[in-house]
Amino acid sequence: MLTRIAVLVSGGGTNLQALIDAKKSGIIKSGEISLVISSSPSAYALTRAADNNIPSAVVSKKDLGSQRAFEQKINELLVEYKIDFIILAGFMCILSEDFTKAYPKRIINVHPSLIPSFCGKGYYGLKVHQAAIEYGVKVTGATVHFVNEIPDGGRIILQKAVDIKEDDTPESLQKRVMEQAEWKILPQAAEMISKEIAERKNN
Ligand code: GAR
Repeated sequence: MLTRIAVLVSGGGTNLQALIDAKKSGIIKSGEISLVISSSPSAYALTRAADNNIPSAVVSKKDLGSQRAFEQKINELLVEYKIDFIILAGFMCILSEDFTKAYPKRIINVHPSLIPSFCGKGYYGLKVHQAAIEYGVKVTGATVHFVNEIPDGGRIILQKAVDIKEDDTPESLQKRVMEQAEWKILPQAAEMISKEIAERKNN
């Protein structure tokens, strides 16, 4: 049986697209994307899910009023769709220890830097690339890691380095880090972990 994957998103969803494409091309063999959950009703990622006939849901912390209610709703959906494995792909909300503890080694995240640089609370999206350029590092990249209660603090699964150019802007760097690193290592890690979970499930 294939590992049932939920992808949690908040925005454009280019990493979700990389996962969808990796499923189509056979890079992801051991899992299937069974559900997309967006924290925002206007995320373009929802259109990508619809275009590929993947069920989706919006779970808004603002509408639900508390972290607890937010996580409870996500959990209900994960149970309803019999999800084995959760991928955070541009999901801009922090999950509590109660939530992450319920899915040990079953949640991964892609972060747009080489952890432990430019990570943790406050480092997300373009801010990460802006910080790397301001610091003056010459190499950055992306990391896929397990998710635990410490933001960007779980065990590292895969990393890929990307050179920073003299004239890079946060936008140009974000694009290169996505193209050269995130869209490659996220599908690879998704297959690695899906395979492990599928093997456990089928034994
Ligand atoms: C990606 O660069 C992802 O690594 C980053 O947000 C972007 C989402 O793009 N995530 C974080 O910063 C999480 N800390 P996408 O919606 O096009 O995949």
